Amino acid sequence: MPGFMSCPGGLIVLAIITLCTVHVNSEIWSNEVSDVQYGKLGSNVTLECKESRTGSPVEWRLNGSAVLPRQALPSNSSLTLVDTDHSMEGNYSCLDERGTLLWATKLRLGRKPGLLSVSCKISNHHFCNCSWQQSVKTHLPTKYITSYRDKLDAVEPCHQYDFKPNECAIEYPTIWQHYHLINITEVNPLGSETTLVRLNLKDLLKPDPPEAVTPDPVVGHPRRLQVRWRYPSSWPYEAPFPLIFQLRYRPRGSINWSMLQTTDTNVLITDILVAHPHIIQVQAKDDLGFGQWSDWSTEVQALPWSDPNLSDPEQTEEYPGFPDYTEPDCSTAKSPGVENYRSLGVLISLGLFAGIILSMLSALIILLWIRQRRRDEVTKQELTLMVKMKSLPI
Ligand SMILES: *[C@@H]1O[C@H](CO)[C@@H](O)[C@H](O)[C@H]1NC(C)=O
Ligand SMILES: *[C@@H]1O[C@H](CO)[C@@H](O)[C@H](O)[C@H]1NC(C)=O
Ligand SMILES: *[C@@H]1O[C@H](CO)[C@@H](O)[C@H](O)[C@H]1NC(C)=O
Ligand SMILES: *[C@@H]1O[C@H](CO)[C@@H](O)[C@H](O)[C@H]1NC(C)=O
Ligand SMILES: *[C@@H]1O[C@H](CO)[C@@H](O)[C@H](O)[C@H]1NC(C)=O
Ligand SMILES: *[C@@H]1O[C@H](CO)[C@@H](O)[C@H](O)[C@H]1NC(C)=O
Ligand SMILES: *[C@@H]1O[C@H](CO)[C@@H](O)[C@H](O)[C@H]1NC(C)=O
Ligand SMILES: *[C@@H]1O[C@H](CO)[C@@H](O)[C@H](O)[C@H]1NC(C)=O
Repeated sequence: MPGFMSCPGGLIVLAIITLCTVHVNSEIWSNEVSDVQYGKLGSNVTLECKESRTGSPVEWRLNGSAVLPRQALPSNSSLTLVDTDHSMEGNYSCLDERGTLLWATKLRLGRKPGLLSVSCKISNHHFCNCSWQQSVKTHLPTKYITSYRDKLDAVEPCHQYDFKPNECAIEYPTIWQHYHLINITEVNPLGSETTLVRLNLKDLLKPDPPEAVTPDPVVGHPRRLQVRWRYPSSWPYEAPFPLIFQLRYRPRGSINWSMLQTTDTNVLITDILVAHPHIIQVQAKDDLGFGQWSDWSTEVQALPWSDPNLSDPEQTEEYPGFPDYTEPDCSTAKSPGVENYRSLGVLISLGLFAGIILSMLSALIILLWIRQRRRDEVTKQELTLMVKMKSLPI
């Protein structure tokens, strides 16, 4: 593929241009909030009244109330929360014996990040989009650091966009590389966890199904349907990456599909069953041979053109059984020529018969004539004999 091999260089340049700004989505959580304390759910969390003088007793309050959770154990200037759960979240404050506020914090409880379940989708040559979900519900503000490495071993960011949480996109991926290693690291106040996903983009490339599949009857042709469709809108049409299409169709009621393949966005079907509705679907695949076939487009139904004059012999004689579809059966199908052959046969046998009768008759006549001649000769001989005898002297 010489035409294709010339592309990677250009794409790499494009990719470097677009990827050189490292953008990490950090809006959700930043360490700057100092008056919030984070604790692990189910563990023992100790709050320290930082401004208190050592040894002097302090009074603790939760959400401004002196009523503390049952599992809250004050000790000197600290408060230990045993086996924490969500009901222990809130504003904790400590006061000295004169009721002066010494220190306050907001406690939030959650979990450390766990591994993510990541799925990546590549529906054209320009983007590989990965999205993920937490397998552990952390209840805490989170940020993700996303990057990838291909065989060139340079670490590039996987771009995150504010309007698409839990998603990142590799722009202009080097699809022909053997693999890409995606690194999605979830970070929250209690820790971080890296999920690594090894992808083979070559195999993952799967276009969206073709759109606007439209079958049209062809006037004057009851066995044809003209079908057209559009490139999937997610596949940049102007790109040097053509698609190849596969169209399948079947008469309604049949289970067997017929297939056609084309690189055009339309095709003419010429063996439609007359006057019968058909189901049609189209799928697409990268014409350079990468990846998989798209899903089939949603089924559309179409009826071929049919002659309003039902006496048309093409329609009534060839497919007599419609609208209920049955397989055309060759043994009972009557070809228009058969009747003529049959009468010809009758004529020939009649002729033969007449010929035989005629020859038999002529043979009889000849026989009779020969016999007559013999008899005539015999009489002649008798006469001469008689004449001879008469002439003899007695
Ligand atoms: C939490 O504190 C309780 C009481 O002091 C103790 O029995 C328990 O072992 C502690 N749990 C952990 C995980 O430290
Ligand atoms: C907790 O404190 C914050 C400010 O520190 C305040 O905005 C919030 O309303 C308080 N919540 C409660 C339940 O008191
Ligand atoms: C806390 O109070 C206990 C007595 O209840 C005392 O023995 C201990 O030294 C105190 N700890 C600190 C850090 O002040
Ligand atoms: C304290 O306020 C927080 C909201 O800031 C709430 O979730 C929590 O249940 C409250 N705790 C108590 C004991 O009222
Ligand atoms: C992939 O991400 C890019 C950039 O955000 C976006 O334009 C494109 O629509 C996404 N594709 C899919 C299939 O989500
Ligand atoms: C994944 O990304 C994180 C955050 O950038 C980094 O600390 C870690 O080393 C990376 N892991 C690998 C295997 O690349
Ligand atoms: C469908 O195809 C199978 C095998 O290709 C054939 O046996 C069967 O008769 C066909 N059925 C119809 C309804 O065309
Ligand atoms: C149908 O029949 C009418 C007259 O019977 C004729 O004028 C017309 O052309 C026919 N239409 C077709 C499509 O054959």
